[in-house]
Amino acid sequence: MDYLKRLMKYLDDCKLLVAVGLILALAGIFCSMAVPKVSKHIIDDVLVARHFEKLYHFAIILAGLVLSKAILNYFQSYIFEYTSQKAIYKLREQLYTKLQYQSFEYFDRASTGAIMNRIVGDLEAIRNFLNQGFVQVISIVITLILALSIMLSMNLLLSFLSLATTPLIYSNVKSLAKKLQPTFREIRTSFEKLTSKVQENITGIRVVKAFGNEELEKKSFGKVAFEFTSKNIQAADIRSVHNPLANFLNGLNSVIILVVGGYLAIKGKLSIGTLFAFVSYVNLFSAPIGNIQNLVNQWQNAFASLEKVFEVLDSEVLIHSPKNAIHLKNIKGDIKFENVYFKYKDKFVLKGINIHIQPGEVVAILGQAGSGKSSLINLLARFYDPTSGRILIDDVDVKNVKLCSLRRNIGIIMQETFIFSDTIAANIAFGKPDAKEEEIKWAAKLARADEFIERLPEGYSTVVGERGIGLSGGQKQRIAIARALIYNPKILVLDDATSSLDFETEAEIQNTLKEVIKGRTTIIITHRISQLVVEANKIYYMQDGRIVEQGTHEELMRFKGRYYTTFKKQLLERANSLPA
Ligand SMILES: Nc1ncnc2c1ncn2[C@@H]1O[C@H](COP(=O)(O)OP(=O)(O)OP(=O)(O)O)[C@@H](O)[C@H]1O
Ligand SMILES: [Mg+2]
Repeated sequence: MDYLKRLMKYLDDCKLLVAVGLILALAGIFCSMAVPKVSKHIIDDVLVARHFEKLYHFAIILAGLVLSKAILNYFQSYIFEYTSQKAIYKLREQLYTKLQYQSFEYFDRASTGAIMNRIVGDLEAIRNFLNQGFVQVISIVITLILALSIMLSMNLLLSFLSLATTPLIYSNVKSLAKKLQPTFREIRTSFEKLTSKVQENITGIRVVKAFGNEELEKKSFGKVAFEFTSKNIQAADIRSVHNPLANFLNGLNSVIILVVGGYLAIKGKLSIGTLFAFVSYVNLFSAPIGNIQNLVNQWQNAFASLEKVFEVLDSEVLIHSPKNAIHLKNIKGDIKFENVYFKYKDKFVLKGINIHIQPGEVVAILGQAGSGKSSLINLLARFYDPTSGRILIDDVDVKNVKLCSLRRNIGIIMQETFIFSDTIAANIAFGKPDAKEEEIKWAAKLARADEFIERLPEGYSTVVGERGIGLSGGQKQRIAIARALIYNPKILVLDDATSSLDFETEAEIQNTLKEVIKGRTTIIITHRISQLVVEANKIYYMQDGRIVEQGTHEELMRFKGRYYTTFKKQLLERANSLPA
């Protein structure tokens, strides 16, 4: 119920409208309630009493009631559609904002399918409830109370009889709700799996095709889709037992009333008009009870969704700017890692890291895959916090720095380049949407992306695909470099930025980088020992979360350790790749 209360808060802006909608719904119910009363008069006072001249009068009242109900219905539907849309808009916006600020750790845990479902499917289930379920529940309660009061005032015995099957109907609805709840949860989970599967498949369709794996993918999709279908059939199966039972119980009510009421009418203890009105009220009374089955579905769906949506809204953001956060301005670019330990889950991936990088220095970090190189950067930019130890920029702990100011001072060129489906200019200016044309061109020029961009038919306004389709690996990399430079950051990080490129393109980009890194503290993470590494002020070699070798190129070559072996191996590989 707490969730319901919270949900109602989203209607606060539209309180008045909701009240009007409820009044209209109430008026609609009154119209429905009046129809059997008028019919009773038509039967008793016009038809039985043979006062046909009164028919015209009653017919007009009847038509008026039916028409009013239709008009009231129209406005009521419109109001609830409008208010529910507005409430969901607010909720969706909050949900999206929350996701934007969530830390990496959250996205490590949540599947894309689940997140998509929160924003799309779950909110739709809640909207359906707000739009229909909510007003229907109120209508049902009022209809039941009104119909029952009118029936009691007409005939006590028949009223009690029409309640005879109520306990059975109630227990039927209750057992349906109990059985459906776990099934609905399973449907939800399998729908998330389905969404994730489609999302992953479409994102990775190039890999699927490259490996000729279409048939296998089809099969694994079929499995997930079948699970979703069978869960839905299971739910339908549960409903299909309960629905006929509910209909039967409702029908039984009418039969009891007709038999007993008919007997009373024959005996002259009940007018035919009253009997007719009674049967109509029983129907009015039973219709919503029958509908309770659907409402139970809708409520359970909405509640399961509400739970999930509020779970996201209430989730703790582990990484956030502290109170009185320091705004980093005009930094020198001094970086210190002080005895840093870090684990993602249980296993430590960084164990006692100590690094000091002076302003303007170029540092190269090497090491095998999984040795913890990217994790270092994740901590520097505060994508995660260290388990113990500190990271300082210009002697300020990054934990005390305002997050956006921290990240604006660090230009990161990630291991995987992501190009948004937008223009090239927008992709470069991603971190600074208000960047002027000259700034974008300056960054592009520095990244040596200007030449190929200007050759494109629409230049900087060329729209590139979701993943930068239409751009070569090297071109994407250059856009990523330009994007990292747009803030003119004092600290630059290149995480394996060129390893996916061929030697020639890599050499070209390395040349570019030589210009780019001038005057910036630079961390180069790489597998390949390039000219930049050789010329670096210091090289760190990492293994299993520890720094096992450090020094300049010459020092490490003299040391004849892992760096030396890597260098020799790569030299040999390169020599072998050249024609004899
Ligand atoms: N989000 C994560 N959740 C859990 N474990 C992670 C996560 N990211 C990385 N790891 C683990 O942490 C370890 C270090 O990973 P990291 O990405 O820092 O390695 P790396 O040196 O950058 O490797 P590569 O050269 O392949 O990029 C690895 O064992 C990896 O499996
Ligand atoms: Mg890495």
